[in-house]
Order: sequence, then structure tokens, then C-alpha cells
Amino acid sequence: MLDDILDYIENIRERPVWQPIPDSVRERFHAGVPTGPTDLAAVHDEFMRDILPFATGNTHPGFMGWVHGGGNVPGMLAEMLAAGLNANLGGRDHMPIEVERQITHWLRQLFDFPSSASGLFVTGTSMANLLGVLIARTRELGVEVRRNGVAPAGKRLVAYTSAAAHGCIAQAMDLSGLGSAALHVVPTNDLHQIDIDALKAAIAQDRNAGLTPFLVVGTAGTVDTGAIDDLAALAGIARQEKLWFHVDGAIGALAIMSPDIAPRLTGIQQADSIALDFHKWGQVPYDAGFILVRDGALHRDTFVLAGGVFAARDARAGGRRAVALRFRARPVARLSRAEDLVHAESLRHRRAGRDDLAHLRAGALPRDQDRHLARTGAARSGFAQHRLLPLSRRRSRPAECEDRRRFARIRYRGAIHHHHRQSSGDPRGDRQSPHRAARC
Ligand SMILES: Cc1ncc(COP(=O)(O)O)c(C=O)c1O
Repeated sequence: MLDDILDYIENIRERPVWQPIPDSVRERFHAGVPTGPTDLAAVHDEFMRDILPFATGNTHPGFMGWVHGGGNVPGMLAEMLAAGLNANLGGRDHMPIEVERQITHWLRQLFDFPSSASGLFVTGTSMANLLGVLIARTRELGVEVRRNGVAPAGKRLVAYTSAAAHGCIAQAMDLSGLGSAALHVVPTNDLHQIDIDALKAAIAQDRNAGLTPFLVVGTAGTVDTGAIDDLAALAGIARQEKLWFHVDGAIGALAIMSPDIAPRLTGIQQADSIALDFHKWGQVPYDAGFILVRDGALHRDTFVLAGGVFAARDARAGGRRAVALRFRARPVARLSRAEDLVHAESLRHRRAGRDDLAHLRAGALPRDQDRHLARTGAARSGFAQHRLLPLSRRRSRPAECEDRRRFARIRYRGAIHHHHRQSSGDPRGDRQSPHRAARC
């Protein structure tokens, strides 16, 4: 098995990035529960024949779709070691907990957070953003909110983020009980960053209307263009207005390790909480999201169980655990070579992205998108060259359909795999947006 998967990774360039799943293969996975045991070798054969050739494609150097990380061999092997230990991090005294503590310590150092800051592995930034919203909610309403819910406080909380923010921020507002309508979506400027003046005006307007602003979410690397908000300006506003300052750094936060890009993250060090993914630019295998929280005590108060066996266990674990259970060894394999993280693995992807864009620019990329690219935060930040850009909101349906056909032709030549996505311009989702994707 190990040989097969190593051969697969070594020779992946000889394969198409992605290929459609034949109906016959899909059909085999509609069978019912097996009635007897299956030989491990047969399961492995099935994996090699029916699963491996029809994967997402994100481990291929030609993959330019979405913001998936590629993973890597050390990460794969670390995953095997972690599964061999099969540690439960819910308590007790064992080294996997120390490993997690060490990663938290490293992240505190990277972002200049105090030693009292807490950190926690979660499945991804969607979950980390949810935790950020919940901790901010606790700060505003007190720990009683956990027992009494949001209604008795009698405050109408409102949060702010930009039109370019990821949809999971609105989802976090929804799941927190505050409601996605309590997310004030602020327009972006020409660089796809949150418009700071519009944000200030929105806060003033909401206060006048009797609402309670409590949270501002900045983005370090937006999902559509890779733009980085002016985090220093957001930190200033948050301080002045007494808002919780959360940064969605799913894509961009780890660029704090890149001397080229780190200056563009200035201000992230003043955040109250930072969400990030090791499984994107970190090239760590899925899943490995993380949240770093300046006020570790508040983080714990937001989630700790008040009584019973779990409280005792939590106390034995030094009050460290809040929700995660699984030992994610992968970041160790990666972060132990933190310099490589940005300067080798990720740049491999970036370079591939650049070559590819050169190819697209040579003929396939519609002219207005090309100009649009030059203006975006992506071109300036060095992020997201592996993404194509959101189509102009003013594009006609036939023009958009022609674009899609072009991208499909490029993609199915097999050498690259692009994601062609239209930005809705509203992270609360397409339903509220007038800019729906055209049906072609
Ligand atoms: C800016 C941003 N935030 C959040 C997310 C969600 O991350 P995850 O899929 O790890 O939950 C993404 C995913 O692409 C993203 O790009």
C-alpha cells in the first residue's frame, strides 16, 4: 500500500489532473452493506482501481482549482504515525497533548500573541470562525449567554465583514443564534479590501439605530481574489469602538512566515482571534484548521463544561481542551521546517500558477479579466495566482457562458484544472445577491 501511494505521488505528473468518474465505477459504490468480511487486499485493489484515479486532483502540480492545499509526503507519513498512536486528546497526560501545546506556542510566537493566549486545532477555518464568533459573543453578553441564550440580554448584536468575506462568516452568525442578518456586509474598495470609511459609517449608523456592534471580521486572503484587508486600520477601529477583532486567515495568515508578504499582514498581531488553515498554503493534509485566541481564559469560559466527568477531565488536562479530540500530527511534520513551508512547497504551487496564468494570458483569458487581474489584491499579494478571478458583475450571460466554455476546454486538455467561480458579492449567500451564476 505504501509503495502504491508513494508511486502515485511520484508519478502524478503523468496522470490527468482530474477525470470524470465513469457511471460503472460510481455504480459499484451504490451497493448495500457487505454481508461478510472483505479481504484487505481486495479493498486495496478496489481503492487503486475505483478511487485513486478519480480523486479531486489537488495533489497534482497542475491543480489550480479552489484553494485546496496539495498535501505532501511527510504529511502523509505523519498522518500514518498519528493514526498508529490513535491518541484521544480529551485529557490525561501524554505527549500528543504536548505536541499540540507546542504548535500553539509556535503560533503565539509567529503572531506576537501573549503566553496567556490559547490555541486549538479544529477541522478548518469555517469551524475556527464559528468559535471566534462564539467567543466574541461571550465577551459581549457574558458567560450567562451559554445558559440563557441570546434573547434575555435584550441587545441586538451586529457584526461587520466585507462583501468579499467567505460565506462561513455568515454561517457562523447563523449557528451562533445571532442570525446571518446580524452580519453587516460592508462594500469593498478597488483592491477588494473592506472599505474602511464605509465600515465606520455602518458602525455609526447601527449605533444610532440602537444596535450593538460587537465584532469585526477582517480577511487575510479573500477566497475570490486573495485580497488582504487593511488589518491595521481594522485593529484601530476595533480598539476605538470596543469590538472584538477576528481575522479569517484561512489562506493568508501563514504568510506571516514569508518576508515578502508579512508586511501586508501588519495589524494581524493586534487581533483578538485568528483563524487559519494548515491544510491550504501550509500543504498539510486535510483537515487541520486552527484558532488562536488572545484571551485564553475567555476562550475556555466560552466552551468549558460546567460539571460532571468532563469538567474533571478538563481540569486534569490543565483546562486546555475546549472541543477538539483528535491528534493532528501533520503540522509537526510541516512546521518543523517552517521556512520550507512558504519558500519551497507553496512556491511550487505559486510558480505553477504563474506559468499557467501566463498561458491563459497568451490567449485564453478574456481581456477584461486580464485587466481585472492586474488590479486585484491577488496580483499584489502573491496569493491566489492559482485562482481565476470572479467574473465582472456586469458581464452578460452569453459572455459568461463563453468564458465557461473556454475554461472547460483548457481544463479538459488535462494539464491544468481551474475553478471558474462567480463571486456573488455577498458572503451571506446567493439568495440575497442579485448576481446569480448564469445557467449556460
Ligand atoms: C477565506 C476563507 N475562509 C474560510 C474558508 C473555509 O475554510 P475551511 O474549508 O477550512 O473550513 C475558506 C476556504 O476556502 C477561505 O478561503
